[in-house]
Amino acid sequence: MRRPVIAANWKMNKKIEEAQDFLDEFIPLVWNERNVDIVIAPPFTALYTMANLLKITNIGLAAQDIFHEDKGAYTGEISPVMLTDIGCSHVIIGHSERRIYFGETNEIVNKKIRAARRHGLEVIFCIGESLSEREAGMTFDVLKRQIMEGLRDISSDGLIIAYEPVWAIGTGKTATPDQAQEAHESIRKTLSHLYGEPAKGVRILYGGSVTPENADVLMACPDVDGALVGGASLKAGSFAGIVKYNKQ
Ligand code: PGA
Repeated sequence: MRRPVIAANWKMNKKIEEAQDFLDEFIPLVWNERNVDIVIAPPFTALYTMANLLKITNIGLAAQDIFHEDKGAYTGEISPVMLTDIGCSHVIIGHSERRIYFGETNEIVNKKIRAARRHGLEVIFCIGESLSEREAGMTFDVLKRQIMEGLRDISSDGLIIAYEPVWAIGTGKTATPDQAQEAHESIRKTLSHLYGEPAKGVRILYGGSVTPENADVLMACPDVDGALVGGASLKAGSFAGIVKYNKQ
């Protein structure tokens, strides 16, 4: 039985005070949710404050990116040592916005995942096809390549996959449950080639315009083990609605 993960990706949103206000409202809504892992990824600037506020809660803290070296002359970068020092439990790696706007390749993503795992951070590894790739019938090939190259020489421990079709991110267009299940099943098949039996334990989240309204049907798919939520995670009420998907 895979324990579901519901993760918030705030992207470049929320100042410290807004993050505090969110938690004031959100924590009481979810404090007794025992059957799901909840994770929030605020921007770097809010991590320290959030870490202190989340200390005695059931909520994990993620960074949205990482650099692959531990320290040194890398102006502007944040290392895994710094993230664990500040209290992060998770890190999102390879988000499509990083791939599109910052040129992250599967090779770079692979280095980042290795660095994160070296320091015990749980990794939310994002993969997904673009609209043109889907229309060209390349979805499964793209996913396979992202997995094989992104996870080269990396074990399945501490690994969470987020399938986020690029055409569904921030667009209001959600994959249908059939599309999501089909993609998740193909991802799990690739993971089985890579890891054998332990692939059955890897949690695969769906991301792309998840809302409290559609969380139920997506989460009902046998290979969908949670959600990575952008826009709908910015309001405490709607993110809590997704966390409580199974009880609605
Ligand atoms: P969205 O973003 O929920 O706003 O579509 C998801 C993501 O990019 O992780």
